[in-house]
Amino acid sequence: MSAVSFQNVSKTFATARGELHALKGVSFDIEPGEFFGLLGPNGAGKTTLISILAGLSRASSGRVLVHGADVQADFAQARRCLGVVPQELVFDPFFNVREALRFQSGYFGIQRNDDWIDELLDGLGLTDKANANMRQLSGGMKRRVLVAQALVHKPPVIVLDEPTAGVDVELRQTLWAFVSRLNKQGSTVLLTTHYLEEAEALCNRIAMLKLGQVVALDKTSELLKQAVATQLCFKTDQALPPALAAQARVTGRVVRLPAQDAAAVERLLAQLREQGIAVEDIEIRKADLEDVFLDLMAGHPEASA
Ligand SMILES: Nc1ncnc2c1ncn2[C@@H]1O[C@H](COP(=O)(O)OP(=O)(O)O)[C@@H](O)[C@H]1O
Ligand SMILES: [Mg+2]
Repeated sequence: MSAVSFQNVSKTFATARGELHALKGVSFDIEPGEFFGLLGPNGAGKTTLISILAGLSRASSGRVLVHGADVQADFAQARRCLGVVPQELVFDPFFNVREALRFQSGYFGIQRNDDWIDELLDGLGLTDKANANMRQLSGGMKRRVLVAQALVHKPPVIVLDEPTAGVDVELRQTLWAFVSRLNKQGSTVLLTTHYLEEAEALCNRIAMLKLGQVVALDKTSELLKQAVATQLCFKTDQALPPALAAQARVTGRVVRLPAQDAAAVERLLAQLREQGIAVEDIEIRKADLEDVFLDLMAGHPEASA
């Protein structure tokens, strides 16, 4: 049985400017023990999909199962299987950290949970903040507590919605070390992110979402194979000739051109020299997930309907 099953999930919002189709028939399954990445630019529908999974929002059509339990019809059962770390920081300002975690345990009917709470505090670098009031914590510390809160009932499926957006490097590393450990011990992880290096490093499989539709779904290694293997990168202040501009990816002064092998690199450099284009910081690099992502996001015009 799949850990999570999204079955033809659609969501339409009524807005002042008419209907907004945030999700258009999203289907995929996540198997137990996977570290699964849900990628997509802002507005792709990631949080909407997570909200439906968490039972916080209702799908307009389709259904979602968690370990076989329907998130609507069998909410309590599905909810027990899920530990959801929301994108927005929400917390009760009157509790200290340990109280917040005990309260959350009580919500799941767990009475004596201090051993596990201590392990969570330790794993997330929160031990010396156990008695601090939630109000006094920095944004990064609050986020750690949110992660601990999501995990108090030892859910088999951990869902993290952009947990590292705007957090410092240290928290990122603490968080990934901890979540990776839980994954190795058997937890299923669903991570949404727009940090592609993160997804590349952590996720065994990835779904890419664009305007409410899945535009790619594969093993991370397979997605990486889709990208042109190597690229010629350099910086320049000059405009490229049209033939090169057509295949280039330009970010400010940085230009990236696909180049399969050494001969292709030589041809590109010769063309640049002939055109009198001065280049600096020449580098040959391997394509990464960002290249696949940008290709996919640039293409699929039917998805923008
Ligand atoms: N409550 C809502 N009412 C109307 N539109 C919404 C609502 N929530 C999200 N949307 C819209 O749905 C789309 C997907 O949003 P969201 O799921 O937050 O994307 P992501 O998390 O991938 O950035 C966006 O166009 C967003 O503006
Ligand atoms: Mg979001």
